[in-house]
Amino acid sequence: MECCCFPSPNKPSSFHLLLFFFLFLYMFFTCNGQDRLSKGQSLGDGETIVSSGGAFELGFFSPGNSTLRFVGIWYHNISVNSVVWVANRENPLSDRNGIFTIGSNGSIVIIDGSNNTNVWSSSSSSSSSQSTNSTAVLMDTGNLILYEDANDSSSALWQSYDHPTDTFLPSMEVKVNSVIGENQAFISWKSESDPSPGNFSMGLDSRASIPQIVIWDGSIRRWRSGHWNGLTFIGIPNMTANILYGFRLSTVESNGNIYITYTAVSSSNFIRFQIGWDGLGREFRWDTAKNEWSVWLYEPVNDCEKYNRCGDFGVCDINSNPICSCMDGFVPRYTDEWKKGNWTGGCVRRTELQCGKNSTSNTSIEEGGGDGFFHVNDVKLPDFADKVSGASNSGDCRTSCLGNCSCYAFSYVNTIGCMVWGGHLIDIQHFESGGGDLYVRVAASEIAKSKISTIVIVIVVVMGSFFMGLLIYLLLRFKEVLREYSIACCRSRKMEIPLFDISRGTTDPSSEISGRYDLAGETKQVSAPDMPLFSFSAIATATGNFSEQNRLGQGGFGPVHKGKLPGGQEIAVKRLSVKSSQGVEEFKNEIVLIAKLQHRNLVRLLGYCIKGEEKMLIYEYMSNKSLDGVIFDQSKKSLLDWRKRFQIIEGIARGLLYLHRDSRLRIIHRDLKASNILLDEEMNPKISDFGMARMFGGNQDEANTTRIVGTYGYISPEYAMEGLFSIKSDVYSFGVLILEIVSGRRNTGFRSSEHSNLIGHAWHLWNEGEVMELVDPAIVASTPRSEVERCIHVGMLCVQDSPAERPSMSSVILLLESEAAALPCPSQPTFTSRREIDPHDYFEADHMNASLNNITVTMMDGR
Ligand SMILES: *[C@@H]1O[C@H](CO)[C@@H](O)[C@H](O)[C@H]1NC(C)=O
Ligand SMILES: *[C@@H]1O[C@H](CO)[C@@H](O)[C@H](O)[C@H]1NC(C)=O
Ligand SMILES: *[C@@H]1O[C@H](CO)[C@@H](O)[C@H](O)[C@H]1NC(C)=O
Ligand SMILES: *[C@@H]1O[C@H](CO)[C@@H](O)[C@H](O)[C@H]1NC(C)=O
Repeated sequence: MECCCFPSPNKPSSFHLLLFFFLFLYMFFTCNGQDRLSKGQSLGDGETIVSSGGAFELGFFSPGNSTLRFVGIWYHNISVNSVVWVANRENPLSDRNGIFTIGSNGSIVIIDGSNNTNVWSSSSSSSSSQSTNSTAVLMDTGNLILYEDANDSSSALWQSYDHPTDTFLPSMEVKVNSVIGENQAFISWKSESDPSPGNFSMGLDSRASIPQIVIWDGSIRRWRSGHWNGLTFIGIPNMTANILYGFRLSTVESNGNIYITYTAVSSSNFIRFQIGWDGLGREFRWDTAKNEWSVWLYEPVNDCEKYNRCGDFGVCDINSNPICSCMDGFVPRYTDEWKKGNWTGGCVRRTELQCGKNSTSNTSIEEGGGDGFFHVNDVKLPDFADKVSGASNSGDCRTSCLGNCSCYAFSYVNTIGCMVWGGHLIDIQHFESGGGDLYVRVAASEIAKSKISTIVIVIVVVMGSFFMGLLIYLLLRFKEVLREYSIACCRSRKMEIPLFDISRGTTDPSSEISGRYDLAGETKQVSAPDMPLFSFSAIATATGNFSEQNRLGQGGFGPVHKGKLPGGQEIAVKRLSVKSSQGVEEFKNEIVLIAKLQHRNLVRLLGYCIKGEEKMLIYEYMSNKSLDGVIFDQSKKSLLDWRKRFQIIEGIARGLLYLHRDSRLRIIHRDLKASNILLDEEMNPKISDFGMARMFGGNQDEANTTRIVGTYGYISPEYAMEGLFSIKSDVYSFGVLILEIVSGRRNTGFRSSEHSNLIGHAWHLWNEGEVMELVDPAIVASTPRSEVERCIHVGMLCVQDSPAERPSMSSVILLLESEAAALPCPSQPTFTSRREIDPHDYFEADHMNASLNNITVTMMDGR
């Protein structure tokens, strides 16, 4: 395999034991095996403590060519350039007599041994609770924590993570709070050999609760990442999967704080982000093969990335010459300076906005007055956006912007919502691809002007082509005549007259115009109404009184019937057989919430029906039924070729990501399986049953539950054995689904002499590098190996035993889609939900039956 992995577990050889022994001796003599400092103990210059896992080391050091002494934390065993934290960055020691210890008031202090003064302390004088028995522990995350009681992890008094210097480490939490706004959390060193605070800082700006990473020079912005859309920072177009792997925003806490953290693929990967003394942001990754840091620069790399390079209302494009231009409808503020290449003045409107000028201020352009929008695509959206809540699509967003005279531009980004700009448009960069769609407000006359000028251009081109064609024709004609005269005896009859193709030379004028701007309110999406309540009799009629021949199957929560509404629309009706504790009102509320979850990979809820104890949900009908009916059916499986199967995997991943993260409800599906994936007429996958877990009271993020909902073969180990579920349990089920889709075989129905289930079998083949063996024989001939390999690899990552090791759905999508992404190594899954398979189950025709409630833990079998 081209991946990073060693073959599966080796027995420890004597060589390893020897190595371990020496390592142990080494550790013992260099650092006494200490990872902590208790009351009464102290650390002199030259001594260090090392975190328990051996990742980090704390002690005295001198940076660069300086002779001053500082206390810092660096990577143990990596000597070069690896300091991640400095305690006394402002008060260095001039000699080697420093002492690092726990002070009399229980805080960590650094004492200058020469004159016995404190140069640094972890507590701000009297504020700390006087704990005289505290212990400082260096964690394997690089965090130095002062505990009141070392045995009680909740007794932390102070931690170095709350007082970072210039480095952001994975698992560090950076506070995002729209009240704070800018959080300049990391301050650069002054120079390579001087850790004292320098000119540059890095941190987050969380204006309008849409965080961006920003680098400042003093208080002036030097660079920004663009807005966080839940998956990436959208202002870094080719942000590699490497860089963005694992950035995550925590959910909002009660005090309005959110934290941004970075989760490394595995804790053995050393990754850090640093604001350099030179003002450049860097990501360092330890390359174990080369034994050096690989560095990614993600800060002003090219001219256009410098903050607001082209001034207000200017657009920077690194591929054009000059790089700066004004937006449509704008002209340079200082034309002479602009021509000389001094773009700092920016651009100004050519025509004042009409909004607010007269009584027809809010009339749309179709009515002949007011303003309209120019569309600019693929841009880094301007800085200082505000968010309009309540606008749920681009049309609403436009309406809301048009109705407010101080709204200068808007953009609708799916996962963020409606963004508007009320001031100058600052720091806009044009990308070759990616980026956002920006609609810039201009006076309607500008749009008309542009329309006219486009028409003029078109006319000129058409006329020009026509005359050119005529000219060429005449020329050829003339030549022919000449030739006829000169070589009359051997005239070529093959002579063809090239007629100039006018239609190819120009574009269709209408398409060109519509490509350049949008008219106000042109696209009005249907806004979601309240969920329709169907009457019981209407549903009974539609389903032929819930007749047996209209029965589609049995879901986890009740039978499903097919029906046809009077208008001809086909529906699927689910009768909920579970008596939930919810009242009718709560049930309705829940449905309205779930109805708002709209994604192309989720089955759409059309309405509901309540009558007495009866509760029903009405869904759109999916003509190709469920995925298991296709991939596990010998006669149908060839309908899905590799391309289609890959699209299905991607689609499910996107639907699941939406549930987990993008939707505000944070839904854990808890019963993801092939029979819950429905296929529309084009074989697009749609997840069904997604609101059920929530509807029946399972809306916690992670919870311990006595009643296990789920299906054999898809349940994750922690869920089956401890009843513990989280979004990572869904990831596990998704991993099983990948393997099933690739192989066309069921995880549970799997029979093989060596392996009890598909996961074990897949691991074996994957480890042997024989991935093609796993691929469904029906499609193996037309399947590209590299893609299968990637898919199975992602599948193996998802079915790992430990939930923490499984990637999140956003990572899954990146790993699936980006060929460049480096895939981490999965560990061998040892859990299997094997049981004595009842042959009746195995040959069950109605697969929806496989869902089980209330299974007991004793039936599970961990190997
Ligand atoms: C101080 O802490 C140590 C271990 O954490 C404990 O054994 C000892 O009893 C504590 N002493 C006091 C005075 O609390
Ligand atoms: C930091 O700012 C000061 C004052 O503006 C300047 O003299 C110095 O050169 C700057 N340092 C760096 C590294 O840019
Ligand atoms: C650039 O233009 C601005 C605005 O006119 C002016 O203030 C500034 O001095 C100019 N800078 C240079 C280097 O010419
Ligand atoms: C109009 O837009 C500006 C800028 O976005 C905003 O500050 C202001 O509150 C808006 N006014 C109304 C009435 O929505």
